[in-house]
This record gives sequence, structure tokens and C-alpha cells, in this order.
Amino acid sequence: MIELAKSAGFCSGVRRAFDIAVTAAHKHGRAYTLGELVHNEDALAILHAQGVYAIGDVSELPDKSTQPAVVIRSHGVSRAVYEELERSGAIVYDATCPYVKKIHNIVSEINEPNSHIVIMGDKNHPEVRGIVGHVKCAYAVVNSPEELREVLRLQKKVRHIAQFLVAQTTFNERKWRDCIKIVNNLYTNAKIFDTICYATIKRQNEARILSKNSNIMVVIGSKRSSNSVKLYEISAEGCSHTFFITNAGALQNVISATKREISIAGARIPYGTVAVGITAGASVPTEIIMEVHNKMNEEIMRANEADAEGAEFMAEVEKTLPQKLYIGKRVKAFVVAVNANEVVVDLGVKQSGYIPADEIGGEPGSNPDDVVKPGDEIDCIVTKVNDAEGVIHLSKKSVDNELGFEKLTVAYNADAVIEGYVAAVVNSGVIVTYEGSRVFIPASQSGVPRGGDLATLLKQTVQFKVIEVNEQRKRLVGSIRAASKNENDAVKAKFWEEIEVGKAFTGEVKSIENYGVFVDLGGVDGMVHLSELSWKRIRHPKDAVSLGDTLSVVVKSFDPEKRRVSLTAKNPDENPWAKFVEAYQEGSIAKATIVNLTQFGAFAQIIPGVDGLIHISQISGERVNNVADVLQVGQEVEVKVTEIDEARERISLSMRAVNAPETAADEVAQAEGDE
Ligand code: F3S
Repeated sequence: MIELAKSAGFCSGVRRAFDIAVTAAHKHGRAYTLGELVHNEDALAILHAQGVYAIGDVSELPDKSTQPAVVIRSHGVSRAVYEELERSGAIVYDATCPYVKKIHNIVSEINEPNSHIVIMGDKNHPEVRGIVGHVKCAYAVVNSPEELREVLRLQKKVRHIAQFLVAQTTFNERKWRDCIKIVNNLYTNAKIFDTICYATIKRQNEARILSKNSNIMVVIGSKRSSNSVKLYEISAEGCSHTFFITNAGALQNVISATKREISIAGARIPYGTVAVGITAGASVPTEIIMEVHNKMNEEIMRANEADAEGAEFMAEVEKTLPQKLYIGKRVKAFVVAVNANEVVVDLGVKQSGYIPADEIGGEPGSNPDDVVKPGDEIDCIVTKVNDAEGVIHLSKKSVDNELGFEKLTVAYNADAVIEGYVAAVVNSGVIVTYEGSRVFIPASQSGVPRGGDLATLLKQTVQFKVIEVNEQRKRLVGSIRAASKNENDAVKAKFWEEIEVGKAFTGEVKSIENYGVFVDLGGVDGMVHLSELSWKRIRHPKDAVSLGDTLSVVVKSFDPEKRRVSLTAKNPDENPWAKFVEAYQEGSIAKATIVNLTQFGAFAQIIPGVDGLIHISQISGERVNNVADVLQVGQEVEVKVTEIDEARERISLSMRAVNAPETAADEVAQAEGDE
């Protein structure tokens, strides 16, 4: 009743860019895309909620010193932009679609003298601007066969020219074929690279066929997205009730269910004949498509319920009529006897009913008495009527399959997680059975890592989701991976409900960056900044932790909207400053180690994690012009603690007060005044 176009929504390039951007935002707290990733407001809102922000160009990056994460979208960018990004110090995630990357590689390798490249496409489109930015020879961008003819006419005057032709990935296929003819007519040795991406063409062809087979066609997309507008135009040619909507909310005003009918913008389609086709542009996320699908399904179910009232009445009438049995009829039967080879049933007619053991159903390998017992009322289908012998053969398995299929279809529409039994391992996946129905789970959806042994799943009870239903072929495809994603989502939701400042966690170090480390807090990663890793002064996180280490951390702050958690690994009981003020006062004499030299003095460590400054004037009774002339890093010295600033956690030290105490106090005052 509802058919969703297989290629509806994100193409592989956009899906990849979307995933890369969200991953980058989760890893770094936020990520910036150079331009909008997709032309769809709902998709942008989803990205925004995940911490992905669009900026115009590299100059708009905020505070580059914090190494912001930047995502190059699927359109790709010019070489100059790559260089600019490198100079900016940003962490770059390159989500250029592999089809676009291929064009970059083609044009950048053409650099012979007399080479000339014609790029077929829209010169203002970001993808074309990016391609042009990789060209190393003469080139022209043209958008039609006519423009191409004109450019080549002028080029013909240049002798020994090596002519090349490439196309924007979404260039019109028909025009492209015309262009190829033009080039081949003029040049015998031109090199033509077919760089069109056929994802768009495939989506359009599907919409063309689907719209012809549908009496309601829904196209999801934004009017800003040219591929979505094109899909609408194609669909409207095939189906007179075609709606172009941005999301499920827009269906509200055009479609509703009335008794046994679906009413669409004034037109009425009887429930039984409704055939809805749904497709979506390349920038529409799956979430939005599923919302529309479910909304349509709801309307159809409402019409179905109204229809069911009539059906119930007819059923009551039928009950009063004598049973007429024929092959394919679904009947109720009472189990009379169960044996190893068959089950005998009473159908309320003069003939006896038999269900062969292999038509009973149940889990593979089960016996009839594992499945039914005398007195049970069961649903069966008539498979053979032998009036001469007075025998009727039936199948319970077929009904189970149908019911199981129906339940699995409902689960599919509800995006529900179900439990099944892995009955077999086949070539490219496993077969899971659910109430008599078989669901194929491809290896890629099994949750077993690539190259892993699928047999580990055999005879296990697994949770899975149905991801594809083929009504005609009665074929179901499932995913164990999608179900565990749900579980992960639930774990994450619980985490965000329960998190609070001061909460302690123990987690594994998942990644190490220059500015800190990410720790797995149980499905959600938190960040420990370099300064929060240790009480000691460290230059790089690797000085304190290694990948895979288990770290005890405490939540410092968190932002559920941006999905960010800031952590500290510093144990307050080990706070060196507290230890210092307990052991030392102003006037204390201490042994210290020089840890750093500056122009104005030296820093000396008194206990690990606590340094004090020996001002240049407090190094010696003699005048010191250059600190390095008298001190070196690692040297042990004796110092007097001359001042403790508890509020700012700063300490002033003096070597001179130990070695030449009579003048030091005056000099300290003098030196501080000078500063
Ligand atoms: Fe790439 Fe084709 Fe999509 S070029 S971004 S996969 S339409």
C-alpha cells in the first residue's frame, strides 16, 4: 500500500559527509562545515543539534588557536582552500564525495603544455568551483552543448591541442551524451571522462516508475534543493496527486482519512485502492522520511479501521453460513490428536483434517507435540481437499508465516526491536526465525565484525529490527546492528538524564589529542583538558596517559544540547597546593629544583606541582644580568619563601635571602615595585 523508493533520501556521498560531520562534532564538541552540508532545513536543524555549524569560509572560523574541527562537505573545495585550512591550524575532516574527488584527481594530473580541459557544469556551483581550483592548465566551464561548441570552435585554432572533457557529477545525462558527440566529431584523440554520478539518475528513474504505479505520490525535500524539485516534476508527470513536502507536518493540511477513504486535497481514494509512493531528495535524512512514511501509514490505518467495522459485520453473517472449504481458505481447527507424523484436527465439517508434521511450524527441529496439544484451537490454511477420501490437508506453518510476516511488518513500521532465533548461517548472512517467519540478516547488519565468524550467532536468541519488507516476494531483511544502536541510544539517553557536576566515572582513554584526551564514560565520551589531567605541569597528554588506560574522572561541567562533558582527572586529595600551604609558611627555608629560566628570573619547584618564582634580583647578593649565567634547569638550590599569595596560588622565593639575608628584604620590595 505504501512503497518507499529504494534510493529515497541521502545519497552515499551526502550520507558519508553527514556521518563524518556528526562524528567530528561529537569528538571535538563542535564542528564547522564550509557551507551548508545539505540544502534542507530539517537536516540542518538535526546537524545543529549535534554541534555541526555551517560557516561561509575559513576566515569565519572562530578562535583558530583552539584548533577547531572543520568538515569539507561532499561538494569538495579547491586546492587553495586546502592550503588555507592547513595554515589556519584547524583539524580537517575531508568529506569530499569520492566521485568528486575522482574529478579533482583527473584534472590535477593534466598539466602537459597545450592541454585544455572543458568542464561541463554550472560555473557558480560549489562543486565546479572546487574542481576549477585543482586545474593546472587552460580550461573552460560550459553548461550546454551550444556553449561547448563555441568554446571548441575557438580552441580548434590552437595547434596540437590536447583536449579533455569532464562533467559536474550532477550534470544532465542527455546533454552530456550530446557533448560527447560534439567533442568526438571535432577531435579524434580527445580524452573524455564520464564523471557523472548515477545516484541522481537512478533516483529519478525510480520516481518515474513509482509515480506511475501510485495514486498518491509524496516527494520529500526542500524547494532550495534542485534535485528535490526535479524529483517532484518527474513524479507529478506520473501521478496527478503528487505532493511536495518538507516533512510530515506538511501532510496535515492535505491528507486525511475518512470512512473507507483517503481524502487528498479534495480528491477521494477508496481505502482498498490506495497506493502511496514516497521518494525524497538527496538531502533528506532518513528520520524525516520515516516520519512521513509513518504519518501516511497512520492515515491509511484510520481508513482501514473504519473499513473494519463493515468487515466485522460481514464476518458475523458468514458465521451463520455452512463452512465451504477450498484450497487457500483460512480456517479455525481444534486439535484432536498429535502424533510424530501428523496432527489430526476437527474443522466442524464431515471430512477429517490432517496437518503433516512438516506443516506444523515451530522452531527448526521441533516435534509436532512441542507446538500443539489436543484441545488447542489453531488457525490453518486448506492445502488439499480430497472429497473422495473425505480428507482435508492443512498447513499451520503457512498461517504462522503470514501472521509472523504481518507482525514483522507492523514492527517495521513502528521501528520496533524484536527477538528472534538464529536458525541458519547462509552465504552472505544469517536467517532469523520469528513466529514462523524467516528474516534474512546480511553479514554487514549482523553485528559480527567484517571477516568474523557468523556461526557464533547460530542458535542464539538475538534482538533485531526489520529494515526492509518486500510485500510481493514476502521477503524480510533485518538488522541486529540497528537494534543494538537503539540500545546504545537508550544508554546515552539515560546517561544524559543522570549526569551531574561532581559525578565520578572510571573510563577508558579512547583518543588522545594535543589539547586533552577523550574518555569513554559508558557510551558517551567526555573530554579531559590537558590542564585537568594532572596536578603536575605536563606538555602533552601523552606525558600523563596512554591510549586504553583506565582513568578515574569527575564531571566538571556538561552541556546536554551540545553533547559535551568536561572532566577532571585531578584528585582533590592530591592537590599539591594544599600540601604546600600545610607544610610551608612565609619565611620557611626549602630545597627547590630549578624547572624553568626566564628573562626576569627562574621558576623553582618546591614540591611536585608547586613552583615559585625567584626574581632575578633575588638570585644573588651580586647583580645578575642574565639568569642563565648563574642557574640552570635541574639545579638544586636553597630558597626562602618570601611571599605566599593563596588566592592566586603564587609563591615568591629568594635565594639571596638565604645567602645574603641582610639586603634581600629591601630588594624584594624594590623588585616588586619595578614590576
Ligand atoms: Fe556524491 Fe553522487 Fe551524492 S556525487 S554527493 S554520491 S549525488
